[in-house]
Amino acid sequence: TPPVRNICCVGAGYVGGPTAAVIAFQNPHIRVTVVDRDEKRIRRWNSQHPPIYEPGLNDILRVARDGSRQCIVCTESECSDGSSQCGGNGCASTTVAARLPNLFFTTDVAKCISEADVVLIAVNTPTKSRGTGAGSATDMAAFEAVTAVVAQHARPGAIIVEKSTVPCRTAELVQDTLSLHRPNVHFEVLSNPEFLAAGTAIKDLLTADRILIGSSSTPAGHRAAAALASVYASWVPKSRIITTNIFSSELAKLVANSMLAQRISSINSIAAICDATGADVDEVASAIGADSRIGSKFLNAGIGFGGSCFKKDVLSLVYLAETLILPEVAEYWRAVIMMNEYSRNRFVARVVRCLNNTLSGKKVTLFGYAFKKDTNDTRESPALDIIRTLAEEGPQEIAIFDPCCIPAQMEDEIRRFVGANFLKADGGPVAVYGNAYAACEGSDAVMITTAFDEFKNSATGEITIAGRPKACSVDPRPFEHTEPTEGDLLALHTYLQRMVTPATPVASVLDPLDRLNPFPTCTEDCPDCELEKATGTTGYGAGEEYVPKARLDWRKIHYHMRKPRWVFDGRGVLDISEMERLGFRVESVGRQSRS
Ligand code: UDX
Repeated sequence: TPPVRNICCVGAGYVGGPTAAVIAFQNPHIRVTVVDRDEKRIRRWNSQHPPIYEPGLNDILRVARDGSRQCIVCTESECSDGSSQCGGNGCASTTVAARLPNLFFTTDVAKCISEADVVLIAVNTPTKSRGTGAGSATDMAAFEAVTAVVAQHARPGAIIVEKSTVPCRTAELVQDTLSLHRPNVHFEVLSNPEFLAAGTAIKDLLTADRILIGSSSTPAGHRAAAALASVYASWVPKSRIITTNIFSSELAKLVANSMLAQRISSINSIAAICDATGADVDEVASAIGADSRIGSKFLNAGIGFGGSCFKKDVLSLVYLAETLILPEVAEYWRAVIMMNEYSRNRFVARVVRCLNNTLSGKKVTLFGYAFKKDTNDTRESPALDIIRTLAEEGPQEIAIFDPCCIPAQMEDEIRRFVGANFLKADGGPVAVYGNAYAACEGSDAVMITTAFDEFKNSATGEITIAGRPKACSVDPRPFEHTEPTEGDLLALHTYLQRMVTPATPVASVLDPLDRLNPFPTCTEDCPDCELEKATGTTGYGAGEEYVPKARLDWRKIHYHMRKPRWVFDGRGVLDISEMERLGFRVESVGRQSRS
C-alpha cells in the first residue's frame, strides 16, 4: 500500500474541521487540506476564531495550521527550520518541535480533490424536510452534490471516504456516481463514520474508543482500509481500529446513536414510574449501572436528548426499516423519539400544574438554552420546544439565561426557530439575559434545562457565579471569580502530558478544557473579529474577558425570587435536600427529596 501523503476533507463543519485538524496534528508528514465552498467559513478557519468552539481546538490549530518553531524543553527559544537540535538559549535538547504547517483551509475544491490520495466527504446530512420520507429520511442533496464533484476531480486510485453519517448502502450510490463520471477509472470507497460529541470533539478524537473503517471485501478494498488505518495508527492503538464490511460500518454509526438515544428514553420512562412511586431514578440508575453488562453511562434522566444527531439518526433508522418493509422494527425505534417528546412534555406539564395551572402574570426562568453543557450548540435543544409550549400558557415573562450562549445570538435564533413574535421586543413574553441573577429577579419558577456545572448547588453553599457580562445592573458585586487552584493546574498538566505528542511544544497547548482561558482575546493581526462580533455565530466573541467557571449562589437567587420559589430541575444537577434547606420548593425528574 503506498503511503498516504495528501488528504483532502470536503466540508469544513463540525465533523470535517476538528477531524482534519487532529489528523494533521498527529501526522506532520501528511498534508491535510479542508475545502468548503463557503468563503466566509474558510476565512474564519484561517483566523484566530474558528467558526466552531471546541475545547482544545485552538491549540491543535496553532500547531498544525500555523506550524511551530518552539522547543519543548526551552519553550522560549525559536528553533531553526527543520533543525533536529534546539541550540537556543544554551539548550542542548534534541527533542525539537520545529514543524511546518500541514493543515490548510481553502475554497479551491477542484484543485485539492485532484491532489489528494484520500478524500474525506464530511458534509451535512440533515433530515429531509419535504418530499418522500420528509421528517425521517436523510437529505442527501449536499452529499450527492459533493460526490459528483469528487468523481470529476479525484485522481485515479484515490480513496473516497464517507465521513458524513449516511443511510446504509450509500456506498453503492457513491460507487455508482463515481463510475458514471469516470467510467474507466477504479476508486475504492470506504465508510469511516465519526463518533465525536459536541463539546468534547478534540478529546474524543485524541482518545477515540474506536475507529471504524468499512471497505469492500476485495483485496483492493482491504488495501484501501489499511491505508486509512495507517493514518489513524499514528495515535490510535491498533486494537481500537475496527475494520468491517462497508454496509456494517454505515449501519453501525446509526445504531450507535440510536442505542444511546434509546438508553436515555429508557431511563426517562423509568423516571416517570419513579415519580409515581417514590423510587429515585438516580438510585435505580446506579443500581443497574453496577451491572457491567448494562454500564453506568448515559443513564442520566431528565427532559430528554437534543442535539443534531440523535433524533436525526434514530429517524433515519426508522426510515430504513420502513423502506425494508419491517414495520415492527420501525415502530420500535420510533418509540424512542416518542418517549423523548413525552419526557419533555411531562416536565412542562408538571411546571404548569405546580404553578396552579396558570402562568398568567407569572415569570418563569429557564437556566440553559444549549442542548447540553459546555457548548453553544442549540440544534434540537429541548429549551426551544419548552419556550414554545410555555408561551402558550400566556406568562408575563419567560426569562432565559445560558452561560455559553451569547444573548444577541440567542435572540436571533429565537426569532428564527421559535417564532417571529416571541421576544419581548416583538410583543412576546421571552427575554434573554446575560446575567443569571437578573434573569431570576421577581421570578416564580426557575427551570434547569441544560446540565451546566454552573447551575449545581455546591454542598457548602459558598461561591458565586461568573456570568457572561462584565457588569450587572441589579447587583454590582455578584462576580466574585474563583481562580484556578493548584489542583486545577496539576490536572491540566497531567492531561496535557497524556494528550500531547513529543513533537508538540507544551507551551503552545494551553488549556484543553478551556476552563482557564475560555475566552481567547483577540489579537491585532486577526482580521475577522469584527466579522465575528457582527455575526455572532460562536459562543465566544472577540475581546471577551477571562471569566472562570464558578457556581451560582442559590442564596442570592432565593433572595431575588417570588414566593414560594419553585425550582424545576430538568437535568438532575441539584442536591434537592440542600435546595429545600435554603427555602426552595424543588421538583426534579424522577428524583425524590431525602429529607
Ligand atoms: C452524540 C453522540 O454521543 C456522539 O457519539 C455522536 O457522534 C453524535 O451524537 P452529541 O449529540 O454531541 O453526541 O451529545 P451527547 O453528549 O451524546 O448528548 C446528547 C443529548 O442527550 C444531550 O441533550 C444530553 O443532555 C442528553 N443526555 C445524555 C441525557 O439526557 N442523558 C444522558 O444520560 C446523556
